[in-house]
Amino acid sequence: MAAGLRAAGHEVLEVQLRRDGTWVHDGALLSVVPGAGLLGADVVFAVLHGPFGEDGTVQGLLELLDVPYVGSGVLASAVCLDKYVAKELLARAGVAQVRYAGVHAPCWQADREDVLATLAALRLPVFVKPARLGSSVGIAKVTDAGALPAALDGAFAHDPHVIVEAMSSGVEVECSVLGARHRAEVSQPGEIVLDGDWYDFEAKYEPGGMRLVVPARISPGARERVRATALAAFAHLGCSGLARADFFVEGERVLLNELNTMPGFTTTSVYAKLWEASGLTYEDLVSRLCELAVERHREERSYRY
Ligand SMILES: Nc1ncnc2c1ncn2[C@@H]1O[C@H](COP(=O)(O)OP(=O)(O)O)[C@@H](O)[C@H]1O
Ligand SMILES: [Mg+2]
Repeated sequence: MAAGLRAAGHEVLEVQLRRDGTWVHDGALLSVVPGAGLLGADVVFAVLHGPFGEDGTVQGLLELLDVPYVGSGVLASAVCLDKYVAKELLARAGVAQVRYAGVHAPCWQADREDVLATLAALRLPVFVKPARLGSSVGIAKVTDAGALPAALDGAFAHDPHVIVEAMSSGVEVECSVLGARHRAEVSQPGEIVLDGDWYDFEAKYEPGGMRLVVPARISPGARERVRATALAAFAHLGCSGLARADFFVEGERVLLNELNTMPGFTTTSVYAKLWEASGLTYEDLVSRLCELAVERHREERSYRY
């Protein structure tokens, strides 16, 4: 990322976020002052995934510092990181998705049998997931009812809210969205080809864990539905800058899985690869994202509040 920004002609100041939550720049602890920006930067590119990075928290801090930042604002970041809330909002907009149910930890602790009886309506197999995590951490595919309690316990170790989803047997298809909330563009969809059963942590992060095929080998109709749904969901959930929209495609049926507001962002990550296949280089992509950040900041500060 830093190399890509430098190659595009930007000056880059690197900040590392450490495990203990502190921020470090040039070997020294970084402290921030509300309203005073961050290191004098014109734009912050917070390449962070999951909780305390992609979930609106860092975005809120950057708002208070009054510095433009790449990607979605506080609300859309928080919504998209919460699989249950995002699904509820998308369902209201009529977006097709797998069947799902949410489970809160106190309900699970109070009456396991009652929860299991409710979940039976989804039928097996199901995917059990912490509602707000990512990178496939804490997710289990359950094919046998006896394994469901352990899968729920496993997900509850990460989050007091868990989502359980009916399995889709569709092809995994992803596309990249770039632009302002209501003026975004979408790449060609790519297809995720896996050796294993599902897109787990190893498949995501180990070299050769998956193969991206562009364009996805789906019908022209499904391809257009994927692209239109990605744009509609991006606008509906209030995203800006960028998102990767992930789908399951079952023949002509297009089901939205999730929107990632800060997808993996190396030169070999799917988000950038899909733009490259659509003719946009990595350098041009990162520069465009910085411009969008500045435009959004300027526009948002133009309103009276
Ligand atoms: N309902 C589902 N049907 C089929 N596969 C699923 C389903 N939910 C998740 N998966 C598999 O698990 C992977 C990770 O799930 P996902 O919801 O995308 O979580 P994460 O935010 O960790 O990426 C998916 O890419 C897919 O391979
Ligand atoms: Mg995913």
